[in-house]
Amino acid sequence: MKTITLGIHGGAGRLGRRILALALEDARFSLGAVMVREGSAAQGQDVGVLAGAGPVGLLTTAKTDDLLSCDVVIDVSSPAAGAKLATFLASSGQAKLVTGTTGWNPSEDKVLSEAATRLALLRTGNFSLGVTALVRQVRENAARLGQAWGVHIHDIHHSAKKDAPSGTALMLARAVSQGWAEDTDPLCLPVGAALPVPPKACEIVITAQRQGDIVGIHDVYFYGPGETLCFSHQAQSRDIFAQGALHAAHWLFDKPAGLYGMDDVLSPTGAASG
Ligand SMILES: NC(=O)c1ccc[n+]([C@@H]2O[C@H](COP(=O)([O-])OP(=O)(O)OC[C@H]3O[C@@H](n4cnc5c(N)ncnc54)[C@H](OP(=O)(O)O)[C@@H]3O)[C@@H](O)[C@H]2O)c1
Repeated sequence: MKTITLGIHGGAGRLGRRILALALEDARFSLGAVMVREGSAAQGQDVGVLAGAGPVGLLTTAKTDDLLSCDVVIDVSSPAAGAKLATFLASSGQAKLVTGTTGWNPSEDKVLSEAATRLALLRTGNFSLGVTALVRQVRENAARLGQAWGVHIHDIHHSAKKDAPSGTALMLARAVSQGWAEDTDPLCLPVGAALPVPPKACEIVITAQRQGDIVGIHDVYFYGPGETLCFSHQAQSRDIFAQGALHAAHWLFDKPAGLYGMDDVLSPTGAASG
C-alpha cells in the first residue's frame, strides 16, 4: 500500500501531540499538514518539536486549506471545529476524515451524518481496541440478559476533560440499548454524584467522576435479580488512543463514502486489520 499522507486537526492538544509523535515514527504515514487553532502559541512551530522530538522541517498551520493535500485527516479538536471541518472536507471531496472528538450536540451529530453521505468518515468516542471489544461485549451481553437487568455505567477521567459523561460512556449506553433492541435514553447524573440506588430493570444510569490525571476508566455493571455482573476497562496511557487513531486512518484510506466506527476496524479475529 502507498504511504498515506496524514493530516492532524487539533495537533497541539494532549491527544493530537501523541498522534503526531507516533505518526512521525510510523512508516505507513507521511505528514501532510498539522493544523492548530488560529492564534495558538503552537502556530508556525516545527511539528517535530511540537511532538517533543527534533525538527522535521514541517510547520504547523492554521489554514484548513492545507489539509486538502492529505489522504486522511485525524480530528481531535472540539465539536464545533470538528463539525466545520467535516462539512469542509465533504464539500471538497479530497481527504477522508477520522474524528475522535467527543461532546457533540445533536445538531453537530447531524452535520457529521450529512457529511458522511459524501465523505468516508469514521467517528468514535474511543480509539482503544480494548474499548472497541468492550462495546461489542456489552451489546451482546445486554441482548443475552435482556431488560430484566438494569445497567450502571461509571466513567472516571482527568480533571481537565471538558465533556461529561464521556463519549465512551455514551457509546456503552448505546450498545446496551442496541442489545435490548429498544431506544433507551440513559439517565446522566451530574459529575461527582453517587448512584443513589442500583438501576431498575430497563434503566441505564451513567455517573461520572473527574479527578487528577486519570487517562480513562469505564465500568459497566449489569444488576439482575440477586446478582451483579461487571465489565471494566482501564486506559493506562494516552498512546492507546493515538495508536488506535492511526489504525483507523490506515483502515479508512481506501474506503468509500459512509459512516464508520472502530468496530469496523476490528477484524473478525479480533485483531486490528491493516
Ligand atoms: N476518541 C478517543 O479515543 C479520545 C481519547 C481522548 C480524548 N478524546 C477527545 O478528543 C478531543 C481532544 O482531546 P484532548 O485531550 O487532546 O483535548 P485538548 O488538549 O483540549 O486538545 C484539543 C486541541 O484542539 C485545538 N483546537 C480547538 N479548535 C481548533 C481549530 N479550529 N483548529 C485546530 N485546532 C483546534 C485546541 O487548541 P486550543 O487549546 O488553542 O484551543 C487544542 O490544542 C476531546 O474531544 C476529547 O474528549 C478522544
